[in-house]
Amino acid sequence: MPVVHSLDDLRSLMADWRKSRCSIGLVPTMGYLHEGHVSLIDRAAADNDRVVVSVFVNPTQFGAGEDLEAYPKDLPRDVALAARHGAAAVFAPAPEDMYPAGYSTYVNVEGVSAELCGRSRPIHFRGVATVCTKLFLLTGADRAYFGEKDAQQLAVIRRLVADLAIPVQIVGCPIVREADGLAKSSRNVYLTAEERAAAPILHRALEEAREKIQAGERDARTIIAFLEDRISAEPLAEIDYIQAVHRDTIVPIDRLEGPILVALAVRFGKARLIDNFSLDL
Ligand code: PAJ
Repeated sequence: MPVVHSLDDLRSLMADWRKSRCSIGLVPTMGYLHEGHVSLIDRAAADNDRVVVSVFVNPTQFGAGEDLEAYPKDLPRDVALAARHGAAAVFAPAPEDMYPAGYSTYVNVEGVSAELCGRSRPIHFRGVATVCTKLFLLTGADRAYFGEKDAQQLAVIRRLVADLAIPVQIVGCPIVREADGLAKSSRNVYLTAEERAAAPILHRALEEAREKIQAGERDARTIIAFLEDRISAEPLAEIDYIQAVHRDTIVPIDRLEGPILVALAVRFGKARLIDNFSLDL
């Protein structure tokens, strides 16, 4: 399976695939692949003739003081895993090829980027939208696969392709979890043993909140207060945000109606973990 580094090589490989009338699935990642990423690759391989997995720790989506330098990497392992799950190529560009000297074009998806992670990571979604636009244009993929774990990212990407009329179908895939409920994440490696043992509180609390809503609770403040109480009872947890929003627009809501997303970000030591659930009410 080819590992492509240069943008030109990627373009010519995609042109070959197109010439053979192959449909193309794209799975954008920052590498250090786990079962969450693998579920996206499996789904892409089931839906498309060819799958390209991008592995790129995108510097423009990290703010100052975030974990860009510390972000875990293992390209040989990622390549083997992607190949085993049906990928036909891995695209692993160098930062200076994606962002050469003089680079000055960014994609800003307004509104949907403002709340949740947009508050604590103000330039994050600009970086995500920029790199994904570039990946869509470079690959000409028919479909691109994103996890619901990053629910706001998925909403940003859906808005982006609709607004810029990029002809790629965005496919959202369910959250993959550890046996104790913790959402799989490349960043879980930052957790100490003690923090790792405490972290499943996020999923447990979200499940209880979901049950309350399914039992009829419709006041967002009641649900958020419940989650705050439950999670702040864990001494290792430091809440960044807990919010209830419309799933597609990411606008905060008071009444839980329609497509809702309840999302949170909580720090455990060096790790900032996110999790969420969504309901159609
Ligand atoms: P990364 O964090 O590597 O995630 C790549 C994709 O895997 C994202 O779509 C993410 O939602 C999905 N994913 C991660 N953990 C998951 C889990 N436990 N279950 C299901 N899907 C999961 O998200 C990014 O990279 C970057 O922002 C990127 C889109 C690649 C742009 O740089």
